[in-house]
Amino acid sequence: MTEIPEHLLKRSRERRSQLTGTPAEGAEPAADAAGAEPVSTVPATTAAAAPAVPNTGPGSRVAGAAPPAAPAPKPDSPVVAAAKRRTKIPFWAMAGLSLMPLWGFMYVRALTEPPEVAEDPLTIGAEVYAGVCSSCHLADGAGSGSGRQLNEGEVLATFPNIEDQIRFVSFGTQNYQNEGIDVYGDPDREGGVHETNSLGLMPAQSEAAGGGLTDVEILSVVCDERYTIGGADPESDEYAEEFEQWCSEESPIFVALEAEETTLAELADAGIVNAEGSPIEILPIGDAPAPASPASP
Ligand code: HEC
Repeated sequence: MTEIPEHLLKRSRERRSQLTGTPAEGAEPAADAAGAEPVSTVPATTAAAAPAVPNTGPGSRVAGAAPPAAPAPKPDSPVVAAAKRRTKIPFWAMAGLSLMPLWGFMYVRALTEPPEVAEDPLTIGAEVYAGVCSSCHLADGAGSGSGRQLNEGEVLATFPNIEDQIRFVSFGTQNYQNEGIDVYGDPDREGGVHETNSLGLMPAQSEAAGGGLTDVEILSVVCDERYTIGGADPESDEYAEEFEQWCSEESPIFVALEAEETTLAELADAGIVNAEGSPIEILPIGDAPAPASPASP
């Protein structure tokens, strides 16, 4: 007598239990073990499958099994008939439908969160520069009769420390003059100091001083003027640290300003730390013009 491999028997048992709805294990263990012939399992499976396939109600099954004399099956009421005709949700659609709650969640988030995409200071700064500054300073920062040259290192010579540039751009020439400040950049500037109103009036840019820019925009446009226009190399010894802390995508200062955890005026006291958790040294920007600091040694 041929031995039926155990895995075939098991498969047969599972299949049968699927069709008949009886539990797979221990349903008819004796029968299976005894009738260990392929012929006995195959008909059992098909026989069990028969009633399951035309799952259209007891009527047809009764009619098939009963003698011809049996009364004709009662016709379904229109409601039941319609329910039976109605197309079921196809199995392949279930995967998509099961994701509906997730889709709804994403949809609501898309509506409630501002559409702002993750941006970095240089991206924002370039937009602000083109929109607000290039009319006087020109697109490449070459300067004109109505705005100082910024490119080819000029703006870096004026402001060795980024904080002083942020302050000057925020408050503009007139406010410096009002405070009696004659030189707005590095007092030891290489190539000569820049005196206030030596070329004209640089308009105040910060909202606090009557300009149109937020703190994030001011920081960003200053980053643009130093790194994109001015020529500072973010990877050089001289500027790597400044870039990392002020103008990079991960700049903790930019992040803190964007989150409105602090303001440019209070930045020096905001306790901002770098990626390693050490405090970043920041020169006070304050809420009024002040003389600029010389280059740090
Ligand atoms: C209406 C013309 C005008 C616009 C617009 C303007 N500036 Fe100026 N900017 C000037 C003038 C004039 C000076 C020289 C100021 C002085 O002599 O006191 C100047 C000077 C500067 C300086 C100092 C440069 C140096 O090395 O001396 C910076 C930095 C600067 N502007 C940045 C900006 C930024 C940033 C914007 C846009 C947000 C901007 N400016 C928009 C006219 C303008």
